[in-house]
Amino acid sequence: MSTTLCLTWLLIAGPAIGAQPAGSITESPAHKRVQAVIDEVQKACLDGPVYMIGRKTALCLAELVRRAKPRLVVECGTALGYSGLWIGRELQAAGRGRLITIELSPQRVRQAEANFRKAGLDRIITVRQGDARQVVKTLTGPIDFVFIDCGYSNYYPILVTLEKKLSGRATVVADNVGIGAGGMKDYLDHVRSKYKSRTEWFDLELPWAKRDAMEISVAGQ
Ligand SMILES: C[S@@+](CC[C@H](N)C(=O)[O-])C[C@H]1O[C@@H](n2cnc3c(N)ncnc32)[C@H](O)[C@@H]1O
Repeated sequence: MSTTLCLTWLLIAGPAIGAQPAGSITESPAHKRVQAVIDEVQKACLDGPVYMIGRKTALCLAELVRRAKPRLVVECGTALGYSGLWIGRELQAAGRGRLITIELSPQRVRQAEANFRKAGLDRIITVRQGDARQVVKTLTGPIDFVFIDCGYSNYYPILVTLEKKLSGRATVVADNVGIGAGGMKDYLDHVRSKYKSRTEWFDLELPWAKRDAMEISVAGQ
């Protein structure tokens, strides 16, 4: 899988921050509490099905957040909170940073909020209900990390709005750039021409996708 590639990318483009002590953090009660909810939400998503990024992609996303040490993360497309739990856990472990995650469906907002509460991440994560293309207009920067996962044609308008609010060297990650490439050509053309940008492929074990990719872009360089 692409963890190695993901790490290679991080070494090239990510702010070089020393590796964290793996053992102590993964054995902490807080880490385990979040993991139990991640496992539960993963099962609910697979049973649903409710589309989510899956474990392999989430491992890479978490690593990117860990390296970036962001103060403010914005996620577009919460669903039941699976990816948000991975992001929130990294912020919790870092002892700083918060996540604003945006979801169109009021029912999913309620489900995600309940999952974040259960995981003990509700003080770190705020869920905003609405169309992410509109909600991002109301956000105040600087935003250090963006994760976009909410309808391929929305990626470009979301990024254009957020661009003026990004911090100096923000990381912008987009999911589904393999299976959804045709629907987000404007987005991909933009980040690949304007930023240092790389496509990370993953072999997945998800019922709806066996192979897909994330685009990882570093803005403001
Ligand atoms: C692929 S799922 C997100 C999965 C989530 N990131 C995860 O990995 O757990 C996409 C979500 O985006 C939401 N969505 C679709 N269009 C949206 C929009 N314009 N604004 C906000 N959310 C939207 C859908 O309701 C759905 O829950």
